[in-house]
Amino acid sequence: EQGAQRYVPDQAATIGELREAANGCRGCHLYRAATQTVFGAGPAHAAVVLIGEQPGDVEDRRGAPFAGPAGKLLDRAVEQAGLDRADAYVTNVVKHFKFKSTDTGKRRIHQNPNRAEMTACMPWLAAELCLLRPRVLVALGGTALKALLGPSATVSGSRGVLMPWPDAAYQPELFPDDGGARLLATIHPSAVLRAVDRDALYEGLVADLRLAVAALRP
Ligand code: URA
Ligand code: SF4
Repeated sequence: EQGAQRYVPDQAATIGELREAANGCRGCHLYRAATQTVFGAGPAHAAVVLIGEQPGDVEDRRGAPFAGPAGKLLDRAVEQAGLDRADAYVTNVVKHFKFKSTDTGKRRIHQNPNRAEMTACMPWLAAELCLLRPRVLVALGGTALKALLGPSATVSGSRGVLMPWPDAAYQPELFPDDGGARLLATIHPSAVLRAVDRDALYEGLVADLRLAVAALRP
């Protein structure tokens, strides 16, 4: 359990190969309690990659990212921003569901991944991005943003503008600089679901996503 790197195939040619290898990942303790690895999904030629935090309860059972309530909201926002979710590759920083069970054991409560778990899982995201070479990356929430830009990055401090990516100063070994990609930071769909002023946050998410969509046009 010393990180995912030793499970990542050296010469993976396809996302399918990565997904299959990730099914057997034991790079951190999270595989033990979860049902299955939830790898990224979407077309290999996708120009835009949407990156969340980690699978939730529904995703853990279905084996697909953003398949639950947050995913429904994301679908709606993405479509309203002018993009078909089917044209985007959707993934997470951490590939296993982290949760604690309630006293009765009936419900599984989501827990945020810590730095060690994020770091352990990062080789999968790096391998995905190296194969996909998207033009635009969308960080959905702080976890994804920190994974891509470093621990001091915040959504509130960087949303609303397209940033160059990768940042040559941050983890160049994981994300070699091939130039030209753009990163957009926005809030996590779950933050919209939890908010009191849901509508305002939702509109903000859509507005951010519109910037990402605009960046895709030549
Ligand atoms: N939240 C995430 O960050 N990712 C998912 O796949 C589902 C909910
Ligand atoms: Fe491997 Fe990531 Fe799952 Fe940990 S969370 S076991 S590093 S796939």
